[in-house]
Amino acid sequence: MSPVVKIQDLHKIYESGEVPVHAVRGVSLEIQRGEFIALMGASGSGKSTLMNMLGCLDRPTRGTYELDGINIDELDRNELADLRNQKLGFVFQGFNLLARTTALENVELPMLYGRHRKVSMEKIRERAMHCLEIVGLANRFDHFPNQLSGGQQQRVAIARGLVNEPQVLLADEPTGNLDSKTSVEVMGVFQKLNDQGITIVMVTHELDIAKYCRRNLILRDGVVVRDELVADRTIAEEEMQRIKAAEAAAKLTHQAKPGS
Ligand SMILES: Nc1ncnc2c1ncn2[C@@H]1O[C@H](COP(=O)(O)OP(=O)(O)OP(=O)(O)O)[C@@H](O)[C@H]1O
Ligand SMILES: [Mg+2]
Repeated sequence: MSPVVKIQDLHKIYESGEVPVHAVRGVSLEIQRGEFIALMGASGSGKSTLMNMLGCLDRPTRGTYELDGINIDELDRNELADLRNQKLGFVFQGFNLLARTTALENVELPMLYGRHRKVSMEKIRERAMHCLEIVGLANRFDHFPNQLSGGQQQRVAIARGLVNEPQVLLADEPTGNLDSKTSVEVMGVFQKLNDQGITIVMVTHELDIAKYCRRNLILRDGVVVRDELVADRTIAEEEMQRIKAAEAAAKLTHQAKPGS
């Protein structure tokens, strides 16, 4: 099968400041359907720049990018926006949920634009509810973001990223604002989605988070310096059981000590 992402000799030079910044310097990469990739590298190494190009949020200065067989260079602004809407889902570090809007309405939002414009509100609601079920939050559909924990908010954001049935889910530090247990929970959602066939590309700073993925790419100064399969992948469900067992043990010791 053809790769879902194919980029060749991709460059990005930011010309906005006094000195041009060559942020991505010739990246070539193929991503097959069903991959789960962690994009790593030091701050300033070009991760977000590369993700923005993968996400069709920004165009490369040179090089080619084919998304699901479509060369994005040949598309105008509107066509690019449509392609993005059809093929890609996004999850951000800061969740980016609308505050005065319920979980369900937040998830519906991407369906109100693009190719779903003619779909009935009832169908949109049904699809959004289904996505909340996938992330295990159907029972919180009418909660506002400030009534949800950080992990729950990120799961709503993942549901929103899924609502248009994307080919690829792109996530820029999705666990960056979460504590370690909540991060495991979110990685569990990603692993479940990936097991169902969704391709995921995720930026992370944390090595132990990258180990939940299947393939790790490391950028340095805008160049891929390492590209390797994860040998002994962490499984979120197992990790969660370990955490729960440790918590239960801690509770027992706590109860056993009188006066503590
Ligand atoms: N809009 C912009 N205009 C000019 N320079 C930029 C712009 N965005 C990023 N850069 C520069 O490009 C380089 C790569 O930035 P990028 O944001 O891709 O790094 P990153 O790997 O995502 O870092 P971090 O881990 O801190 O998020 C940096 O030197 C940065 O200063
Ligand atoms: Mg970044």
